[in-house]
Amino acid sequence: MQQAMSRSASSRSVSSIIQAHQTFEGEGFLVHRPFPQHGLSDFDPFLLLDEMGPMDVQPGEAKGAPDHPHRGFETVTYMLSGSFEHRDSAGNAGQIAPGAVQWMTAGGGVVHSEMPAREFNRTGGILHGLQLWVNLPKRDKMMAPRYQEIPAENIPAGASADGKITVRVIAGEALGVRAAIDTRIPIHYLHFNLAPGAKFSQPVDPEHNAFAYVLGGEAVAGARTAPAHHMVAFARDGDAVELEASAEAPLDVLLLAGAPLGEPVARWGPFVMNTQAEIRQAIEDYRGGRMGSIAH
Ligand code: CO
Repeated sequence: MQQAMSRSASSRSVSSIIQAHQTFEGEGFLVHRPFPQHGLSDFDPFLLLDEMGPMDVQPGEAKGAPDHPHRGFETVTYMLSGSFEHRDSAGNAGQIAPGAVQWMTAGGGVVHSEMPAREFNRTGGILHGLQLWVNLPKRDKMMAPRYQEIPAENIPAGASADGKITVRVIAGEALGVRAAIDTRIPIHYLHFNLAPGAKFSQPVDPEHNAFAYVLGGEAVAGARTAPAHHMVAFARDGDAVELEASAEAPLDVLLLAGAPLGEPVARWGPFVMNTQAEIRQAIEDYRGGRMGSIAH
């Protein structure tokens, strides 16, 4: 028997392991940010990943991000603990509770606020969540804004036969389960939980960029390891990503993969376009009130 011949997928090698840097966002809540940071401006098609917290919020002390605009990309909020309330210039409002996902396509422009839910602010507690920025292709940058809000119970989930691997499928497909969310470009956004020593192999398109981000435990990738708040960037040299939990602890990890756009990126704060002229236009449109405002 030739072992190599029977392999259906070739596993990608690790290109780098990057420690998230700590910073403060909005009114001052703690985030761990693997990128952008010095030496890694983006991870095409992904522009930013923020792990909000985890932080212990005292009653009345919860912080948020008051009214601000976005244009040219998508913001994806995934809460793990604690709740946010959002409002926007199109009149939408709602809560993002633990386990829920809000996939907001800003397109041509939206003004929104992301504030702690009143009840969470009253009680305090652990705030923990993620915000991912996904770039839009040039053809979609000025599209009408779109919201996809999926409550926790409607996020498709899967498990391995032995129960040692579970996955929540936010985008794409894993363990035979397909996401409820529709994306503009092909993306995988998967939240895996592995029992100690368990290992998964996730098929990915050989052309896509892929990385993992460790929330808890320790990821083992070949001869390398990555603890919490670390990103594992994979080389584009195979059609599967393999990760293993260390023998000591369960592994809580995100896996992201997406089709690179290969287009010029001009970014300034909350606007991500293809050219500086388009950035200047976005600033003018925002200042001129053409992205709307939130009725308070
Ligand atoms: Co925002």
